[in-house]
Order: sequence, then structure tokens, then C-alpha cells
Amino acid sequence: MDGGVIPTNKEKEKLYADAALRIEGLVTGETDPIARMAGAVSVLHHGLPHYFWTGFYRVVGNELVVGPYQGTPACGRIWWGKGVCGTAWKDGVTQVVEDVHAFEGHIACDASSESEIVVPVRDVEGKVIAVLDVDSQEKGAFNEIDQVWLEKIVTHFKA
Ligand code: SME
Repeated sequence: MDGGVIPTNKEKEKLYADAALRIEGLVTGETDPIARMAGAVSVLHHGLPHYFWTGFYRVVGNELVVGPYQGTPACGRIWWGKGVCGTAWKDGVTQVVEDVHAFEGHIACDASSESEIVVPVRDVEGKVIAVLDVDSQEKGAFNEIDQVWLEKIVTHFKA
């Protein structure tokens, strides 16, 4: 969606519950990791009204390389520790950024992004193999509801 409206927490719960079910259906029986990521990105991007850019960056050597995404054209590669995505990879912790302009080192792929959440994706051994990045055109669009659901959803991408 175009990222214009932030749902209430109650609305988010319902939207994420629906999205999680649809994603589970799409990834079940699909072994290709890119196909799984592409399906999840589509469900999330079109299901959550506060999303403006939705996508995965995959760990390839010492960089993150963009994977399946929906939204405006994005940076292709991000170094370890750089920007919000590289920080989530380095620290292995979800980053909820209320105001991207206040995050030192934020990488602006699209000037209309105002807030962002980045969730690390781990393999079965716990190593970070990708991050899921979502941007909104609204400030403060993401909170603990988004975090809890997205952390649950990314467990589908362990391999
Ligand atoms: N803002 C991110 C870069 C990726 S774009 O948002 C799609 C960052 O600072 O890592």
C-alpha cells in the first residue's frame, strides 16, 4: 500500500494475524528461499496500510544485497554495520526507528521514508542470514506490535 495511514494497535493485530496466515500458506511446501521471501513481501506490502517500502536484504559475504521487495527503487548493497539494516545485522537486534532523520547513518533510499523497522532473519543455527526492512512515509509508524509479528513471520525464512 502507499503508506499513508497508521492502523491502531487493534487493527494492526488483525491485519498481521491475517497476513501471517496467508504467508504460512504461501511458504508451506515452497523450498526456494527467494520465492518464499517474494510471497511474504507481497502479502505484507499489500496488507498493511502503513507500509511504503517492504523488502529483504540478504547477507552475501560482507554486504547485504537487496532481495525481493515492493516499493520504489532501493539501494542494492549495504555494508555490515551501515545504516539501519547494517546495524540490525551487526547487532542481531530488531531496530524500530521512529524518525529516520534522527538515526545517525540512516541510508535514505527514498526521501519520503520517515520511519522504519528492520528485523534480523536467522538460520537454524541462529546466524543472521538476511534482514526484513519496512519503511513508512509516516513518522512513528512502527511499534512493538509490528516488532512481535514481524519477528514471528521471519521464522519462516530460516533456510
Ligand atoms: N534505510 C535503510 C536502507 C534501505 S532502504 O530503507 C530500502 C538503512 O538505513 O539501512
